[in-house]
Amino acid sequence: MILKELTVTSNRKLADGIYEMRFSGASHVRPGSFVEVTVPGFYLNRPFGVGNYENGEITIFYKVVGQGTDKMTEIQVGEKLKVIYELGNGFDMEKATKPLLVSGGIGIAPIYYLAKAFANKGIRPVVVTGFRNAGEVVLEKELAEIADLYVATDDGSKGFHGNPVACVKALDKEWDYYYSCGPMVMMHFLKMYSDKGELSLEARMGCGFGACMGCSIKTVSGYKRVCKEGPVFDAKEVEL
Ligand SMILES: Cc1cc2nc3c(=O)[nH]c(=O)nc-3n(C[C@H](O)[C@H](O)[C@H](O)COP(=O)(O)OP(=O)(O)OC[C@H]3O[C@@H](n4cnc5c(N)ncnc54)[C@H](O)[C@@H]3O)c2cc1C
Ligand code: FES
Repeated sequence: MILKELTVTSNRKLADGIYEMRFSGASHVRPGSFVEVTVPGFYLNRPFGVGNYENGEITIFYKVVGQGTDKMTEIQVGEKLKVIYELGNGFDMEKATKPLLVSGGIGIAPIYYLAKAFANKGIRPVVVTGFRNAGEVVLEKELAEIADLYVATDDGSKGFHGNPVACVKALDKEWDYYYSCGPMVMMHFLKMYSDKGELSLEARMGCGFGACMGCSIKTVSGYKRVCKEGPVFDAKEVEL
């Protein structure tokens, strides 16, 4: 866990309600770990998965859902924000030789960084990304360069017509282990299909670093904290 004041180098809209923010001044960040951003005027930090890390810059992809994320859209390049990074456990990349990556909505953030990390190891993953409609699709060009990409939309306005789990089932692709991040309902159905993988979970957070127990979830081996023992859990371990 590292707390630092980082400089915002970019804050731009990518699609309907979806933004990308970059911070410079960070050291190495693991795929699947998350950051806590102090939003000016708000007491509690906001947690976000790491969407990329390159040349000392952390990227997050955020969806505007409430007051904090709405305020973040006003942050200007050059502003300094307190950011806690290297939080949580991260994905175990050693488990896959033929990885399948599955995201729903803004869950694409950690999945994109993981796809880049596999590409850096010389592995081209299969990536299935789901969105509500074509207007919400992000990172298509970037992912297509490094992965076998399949885009699914709920309304069929782009790519596969249906949810990402239905898309995975319809695919004739070989994979040996999956990594997923997205809405609980999507990860529930993915786990029903196969539990050979890892799920990156979200929970309402207080402290963000293991002290308050506010983010605990039930697992087969008792309660665990999403911020400390997670956010990535073995699919066999969690009850969704
Ligand atoms: C490990 C983790 C990774 C995440 N990664 C991303 C990401 O990459 N991109 C993205 O857009 N969103 C992500 N989220 C969700 C994001 O943290 C919330 O959408 C955001 O905090 C909402 O803030 P708000 O003030 O706009 O909303 P409000 O609803 O006004 O927030 C009120 C309070 O609830 C908390 N809160 C609200 N929703 C969540 C949530 N889902 N999880 C935790 N706390 C929440 C906020 O921190 C705040 O304290 C992640 C959440 C977690 C736990
Ligand atoms: S948010 Fe406090 S223990 Fe996880």
